[in-house]
Amino acid sequence: MFELETPTFASKQEHYEHLVQQARGLLQGEPDLIANAANFSALVYHGLPQLNWAGFYLFDGTELVVGPFQGKPACIRIALGRGVCGTAASERQTQLVRDVSTHPNHIYCDSASQSEIVVPLVRRDGSLLGVWDVDSPVTDRFDEDDRAGMEALCAVFMDVVTP
Ligand code: SME
Repeated sequence: MFELETPTFASKQEHYEHLVQQARGLLQGEPDLIANAANFSALVYHGLPQLNWAGFYLFDGTELVVGPFQGKPACIRIALGRGVCGTAASERQTQLVRDVSTHPNHIYCDSASQSEIVVPLVRRDGSLLGVWDVDSPVTDRFDEDDRAGMEALCAVFMDVVTP
């Protein structure tokens, strides 16, 4: 069984480096997208403090559809360009929202969410797999270290599921 350790870290970067290693170990060798997405969500949700949602929206060719996640039930479908998720998908750029109440395009799934980070998941051929979305009940929970860390985690995920 995979053991989730919770050591203390000297820095946020070190914490993410540890999570990246854990993600590699957890996903490597398993080609199934849903299995890996489910385990990845659980790893991050339980591996980082102050999160209330962590999961995937997968692109079905038309819009984003909720995939494996941890947290409360969420909005099922999000059009490209709508919400923070749809913006990340259409712009193909990570969206870091420090305070969702000030974001004109944010979609509330869980009223507890105060800040959010969404990373687009783009295959090597440029096509969109979906987005990785993490919410926090704390305003200003995410910073540039989280952006870099989440992008590094997503790179591990994409390496395994779309080699
Ligand atoms: N807040 C997101 C919707 C998804 S939930 O946070 C799980 C958005 O604005 O796209």
